[in-house]
Amino acid sequence: MDGDPRSALASLAEEVRAADRAVALTGAGVSAASGIPTFRGDDGVWGDQFDPAAFHVDRSRRDPAGFWSDRLELHETMYAADPEPNDAHRALARLEREGSLDAVVTQNTDGLHARAGSTTVELHGNARRVVCTGCGETVDAAPVRERTRSGELPPRCGACDGPLKPDVVLFGERLPPAAFAEAREFAREADVVLAVGSSLTVEPAASLATAGDGTLAVVNFDPTPYDDRAEYVFREDLTDVLPELLARVGTAEDG
Ligand code: APR
Repeated sequence: MDGDPRSALASLAEEVRAADRAVALTGAGVSAASGIPTFRGDDGVWGDQFDPAAFHVDRSRRDPAGFWSDRLELHETMYAADPEPNDAHRALARLEREGSLDAVVTQNTDGLHARAGSTTVELHGNARRVVCTGCGETVDAAPVRERTRSGELPPRCGACDGPLKPDVVLFGERLPPAAFAEAREFAREADVVLAVGSSLTVEPAASLATAGDGTLAVVNFDPTPYDDRAEYVFREDLTDVLPELLARVGTAEDG
């Protein structure tokens, strides 16, 4: 690659256009433009404001009331506005509609890729749902958050009175086996993997970037541990790169 981002993007677009199979692996950076802060990097929530250890699965079992109280504060910080899909979500959904992308494998739990129309594999679950640790029933998270705001700490299952937890993968928990198996299949079969808006620091999700032997393209402001195995690295704003990639793949409809 000659280092000129524009010619690199043209070359990547050619590879995406020629690919039989392509997949995107996304992280919090894709939702930053929707008003949801990232975890790491500039303005990341992990650090002065929130300690990731407070959200470990062991804490959720040891101190469910404290866990839910901190979880509510984290949710209110991350989801201050009601987030909508942004140009990056829409570009990936259109790439798929035009036959140039098979799916989005995401670490994000905001549900925005699915709302934009992408076939989505949610590796880390979905924060719009909560699940009972007793009977496994899942319900909408919004009314449960209201109950915790009114002091129901921890919120309990309406069916079995067991403690509820957000339907997301907490630190210390395994990824949902079916989702990870599906994601690994997409990654292994892909001729091109677009790793977008992720620090690629949390395993096993990050390892999907090199699960196959296809071309890896990283689009991320900050360096990642996978950059040295990537054929393309764009240190640029993904909300610019993805729509431009879409246009160059020649799949954008007019207007
Ligand atoms: N364009 C390009 N890159 C961006 C943009 C942007 N507009 N905005 C943010 N980024 C990059 C940042 O440089 C950062 O490296 O997005 C990356 C987001 O990284 P993280 O905050 O670490 O998010 P992610 O990789 O998804 O975290 C993985 O960690 O805390 C856990 O479960 C949580 O799923 C999350 C996992």
